[in-house]
Amino acid sequence: MSRGNPFRTLTPQEAVEEIFDGATVGFSGFTNAGAAKVVPRAIAEKANRLHGERKPFAIRVFTGASSGSSIDEPLAEAHAMSYRAPYQSGPRLRKQINSQEVEYVDMHLSHLPQTVMAGFQGKLDFAVVEATEITADGRVYLTSSVGASPSYLRYADRVIIEINRYHSPRLREMCDILIVPPPPNRNPIPIHQPLTRVGYPYAVVDPRKVIGIVENEEADHVPAFATADGRSRKIAEHVVHFLLNEMRAGRIPDEFLPLQAGVGNVANGVMAALGDNPHIPPFHMYTEVFQDSLVDLMEEGKLLGASTTSLTVTSPVLERIFENMDFFIPRIVLRPQELSNNPGAIRRMGVISMNTALEVDIYGNVNSSHLYGMDIMNGIGGSAEFTRNAFLSLFMCPSVAKGGKISAVVPMCPHIDNNEHSVQVIVTENGLADLRGLGPMQRAHTIIEKCAHPAYHDYLYRYLERSRIGHIRHDLRTAFELHRNLLKHGAMLPGLNIS
Ligand code: COA
Repeated sequence: MSRGNPFRTLTPQEAVEEIFDGATVGFSGFTNAGAAKVVPRAIAEKANRLHGERKPFAIRVFTGASSGSSIDEPLAEAHAMSYRAPYQSGPRLRKQINSQEVEYVDMHLSHLPQTVMAGFQGKLDFAVVEATEITADGRVYLTSSVGASPSYLRYADRVIIEINRYHSPRLREMCDILIVPPPPNRNPIPIHQPLTRVGYPYAVVDPRKVIGIVENEEADHVPAFATADGRSRKIAEHVVHFLLNEMRAGRIPDEFLPLQAGVGNVANGVMAALGDNPHIPPFHMYTEVFQDSLVDLMEEGKLLGASTTSLTVTSPVLERIFENMDFFIPRIVLRPQELSNNPGAIRRMGVISMNTALEVDIYGNVNSSHLYGMDIMNGIGGSAEFTRNAFLSLFMCPSVAKGGKISAVVPMCPHIDNNEHSVQVIVTENGLADLRGLGPMQRAHTIIEKCAHPAYHDYLYRYLERSRIGHIRHDLRTAFELHRNLLKHGAMLPGLNIS
């Protein structure tokens, strides 16, 4: 807080007094990075107290994206949430969504700020935003993520600021903040390169809306990723080989194209492999999440610069960034998710997108969010806005899960979040299916041959043979047989043994 600052310093318990049952609250945080921390816990305590008195209390929760142990898990543990958007990844909350205790809206992340502005999902009663500073005139300097916080600060009725002294105040020098105005008065967003800056280092709030500030110095709770296993390394090899061929063919220019990498262990492994390969030139990223492995690449000079909305890095790595801000500030831009995931910018720069699927079907439709078409895993996140607008769109996954009981290549996906019209390349540890320009039958044969685990080839070919002939072949009686088997017997092909 700067000198002469008019805001009251509150305890977390005082700060949440006004938050009422049924309130809609927008929290800062895109992953655990920059997430509000002490206020969500105080809301959970309040919920527990009221539930103990047999009074109802549950709020509607928005964040930038997932928020795991900072927001979702304490609130879910206290049964303090009735509604959640736009993305989540916490095990406890996942259970409550899949048992319909919590209503969940799984959204394209760049849509969120305009949704809040327009009020499509109701009025925002409160914003709770982590910052390094708020000035008397209402400039709010954010921490390790920008996400949707600028919109929450502008559109919420009442605001609580968590001043977090763990974070470097110099994070503001990475921030590039702009709220896109309502249509039809929108100019093109002039981002021509990943590091182009178009906005301000701070978000803005009307000081009259601020209930007060709550102080803390807690680090972001970002967990470390597992190191890449053998299958992830194989997938990475196929991706690197494919991109090098695209360069040789002149379809990727010598200076390369900006990369986007999704969340998860496979994506992390692929980024490390791209960094290690001496024939891949130094590159930029236009992505939504900046993970640990990218810091190494940046220090090695392989990653020249990155546009992102969050620094989702573990504490030791974030501290490494803080110690060397003169190096990192010119190389990292932190933008609101409306811009980090902006379809126009992604298309303009020719981004290469690399995301992870749970399963793909034989025609190239992808399911990355709903197990058996019913249970949410995490959500679509930004995968679809990158995939739909990328110059090259890749989806990756291991060919089987749960020791072979589940095939990642199926006749028909029971839920599709990225469809065959947008997905160009599918990669498993077995190989890479380049689907560009292929008709449905060519796609089916290529995906089975290159990507499916050999133990599932016969089943998938027999499926094709018995299917009704049309532009796309399907047998509607058995299109979901593998999924039905999985639900009934715990395996897609009971008795199949993959050693
Ligand atoms: N059916 C049922 N379960 C499956 C499955 C399938 N077809 N495929 C995988 N699984 C299981 C795995 O066995 C594993 O379960 P376990 O944790 O009990 O072992 C789990 O699902 C996923 O494995 P995980 O190791 O968490 O994978 P990951 O870290 O590579 O993440 C996604 C994969 C798809 C869950 C993750 O990338 C995601 O949520 N993507 C969607 C959002 C997104 O793409 N965001 C980035 C955009 S910028």
